[in-house]
Amino acid sequence: MSQSHVYPVNPEQASHSLIDKAGYQRMYEQSINDPETFWGEQAEQFLGFFQPWSKVLSGDFSKADVSWFKDAKLNACWNCVDRHLPQRADQTALIWEGDDPADSLPITYRDLHLAVCRLANVLKQRGVKKGDRVCIYMPMIPEAVYAMLACARIGAIHSVVFGGFSPDAIKDRILDSDCQSVITANQGIRGGKVIALKDNVDKALANCPNVHSVIVVKRTNAEVSFKQGRDVWYHDAIDQVDDQCAAEVMDAEDPLFILYTSGSTGKPKGVLHTTAGYLLSAAISHKYIFDYHEGDVFWCSADVGWVTGHSYIVYGPLCNGATSLVFEGVPTYPDASRFWQVIDKHQVTIFYTAPTALRALMSMGNEPVQATSRQSLRLLGSVGEPINPEAWEWYYNVVGEQRCPIVDTWWQTETGASMISPLAGVTDLKPGSATLPFFGVKPELLDADGNIITGAGKGNLVITQSWPSQIRTVFGDHQRCVDTYFTAYPGYYFTGDSARRDEDGYYWIIGRVDDVINVSGHRLGTAEIESALVLHPKVAEAAVVGFPHDIKGQAVYAYVTLMLGVEESDALRKELVAFVAGEIGAFARPDIIQFAPGLPKTRSGKIMRRILRKIAANETDNLGDTSTLADPSVVEQLIANRHNR
Ligand code: WTA
Repeated sequence: MSQSHVYPVNPEQASHSLIDKAGYQRMYEQSINDPETFWGEQAEQFLGFFQPWSKVLSGDFSKADVSWFKDAKLNACWNCVDRHLPQRADQTALIWEGDDPADSLPITYRDLHLAVCRLANVLKQRGVKKGDRVCIYMPMIPEAVYAMLACARIGAIHSVVFGGFSPDAIKDRILDSDCQSVITANQGIRGGKVIALKDNVDKALANCPNVHSVIVVKRTNAEVSFKQGRDVWYHDAIDQVDDQCAAEVMDAEDPLFILYTSGSTGKPKGVLHTTAGYLLSAAISHKYIFDYHEGDVFWCSADVGWVTGHSYIVYGPLCNGATSLVFEGVPTYPDASRFWQVIDKHQVTIFYTAPTALRALMSMGNEPVQATSRQSLRLLGSVGEPINPEAWEWYYNVVGEQRCPIVDTWWQTETGASMISPLAGVTDLKPGSATLPFFGVKPELLDADGNIITGAGKGNLVITQSWPSQIRTVFGDHQRCVDTYFTAYPGYYFTGDSARRDEDGYYWIIGRVDDVINVSGHRLGTAEIESALVLHPKVAEAAVVGFPHDIKGQAVYAYVTLMLGVEESDALRKELVAFVAGEIGAFARPDIIQFAPGLPKTRSGKIMRRILRKIAANETDNLGDTSTLADPSVVEQLIANRHNR
């Protein structure tokens, strides 16, 4: 990387930032060499406890068995809400910006407290207890945040299911963690379109006999069917309960939430995070990475259905007493200026979004950006997938007018909070690099044999010691947690990503090395899409891979072998695409379906995905070794019939 691509910290920014380069170095070294002292001090600064801990860190990292802040007692909701009431009851906690630009609503910490207490009381009244799992399937409205915090308040474990998931996907998630209550809305509205949330829940619940309670927020005026005794309107229920509710005393290691995510094999995994460690990592990373100062208006454009929304719309900002913007809409509705209009309207100072949104907006030209002021912005962030240097430069030059540093934050559902990222105003930037590890994060790159690569190089990215928000378990299947993350390289947490480290020690995330693909920042397991396809009666076999896509980052390419005698047709292609949308959700729809009478398999029957990936990417002149294929002619046929885009 030539030095001309380095964007040094602007001295003016550095003069305002919370710490300087030497401060980062000092804190980083302490966090690695003496984690107990470091994290003990940070916990005292960032969190309020009802009872102190007896030991900061204990357990065995290599077995995914760690405990942070043993014996400490606290409540995450209390930390995000009640703790701020003495100083900031009248401060805006949430700014809700509706899908329709005419709809917005500020919610103070006082309002938030009352709303959360009421919903917590409703949950209690309906029999929800500490440790119970509650499914939240909501649009981006304030009640989604209330729902998460109300669960945390009473010690229930929330499992937020993204509002784009299909009834089947909701059902699987409800059953896997035995959620017995659901919080939803009658409908959602996004980009002017209505989403039938309650209908989807009803379909899911047809196969979830244990669900005894559904609380329904009235987002639109549409009537929806109600099951007597099971379903209640949110607005009726909260009117009938008290607006005070004591926060349950929770152990530091009591579960806070489950969030399902896709892996390379099998069903999605319920990643479980616990209370103190998760909250601390969310709060400290929010503060230092985004150089958060009192008075900032922070906007993370993610959905609360994904981990980014959990950590940087809800828990991180609110734990720090910040003002967090909740956006119901999409970047291009009513027009392609929407993001920037919202920034002007609410004087957003820190904006955090995904590369896919930037690439989509970039393709529409500079005019929609330049039609707005954006003078309030002082800092930009990126998350979810590698940001290509072109998109980075556009974000930096056009959106931020060369005034705002960009923090490219690398992390995962399993890590709970950002792991590799610049600190704004501290770290010199290189477009496309997530730069340096955050406090407490010790990454290494390993070669195929598991040897540590020193200095500059490329390898599989692992983390070598525990950090407070590390995944604690896969709900109901601890062995799966050990097998997935702690077995490939014994003693290390394996991220599933590969990365490059340059001569300055900067990390450049390359991408997944497993069968997970990242489509528009949505993480999808190719195995899940394959399982959906083979449920279709006309499909005999399917193999799914990702291929590079200008806007989405990656897109879905499905090779489908039809049952004997079934005719190939465009109509069937469409039917299969719709079928996958129905099984998982519209965001998992294959972009391309190629009918493939045969798939490249080894003699032992294993599909050689490497070859399929190359064909999908149109890199067919370099297929590598095909000599182990049972029938090499299959490859010729696949190339000949390759779907031309
Ligand atoms: C990818 C999202 C490059 C990566 C927070 C990771 C990134 C997966 C970045 C996790 C980034 C996330 N640069 N790649 N800044 N951030 N990824 O669980 O492959 O939805 O393993 O968490 O997204 O996706 P997840």
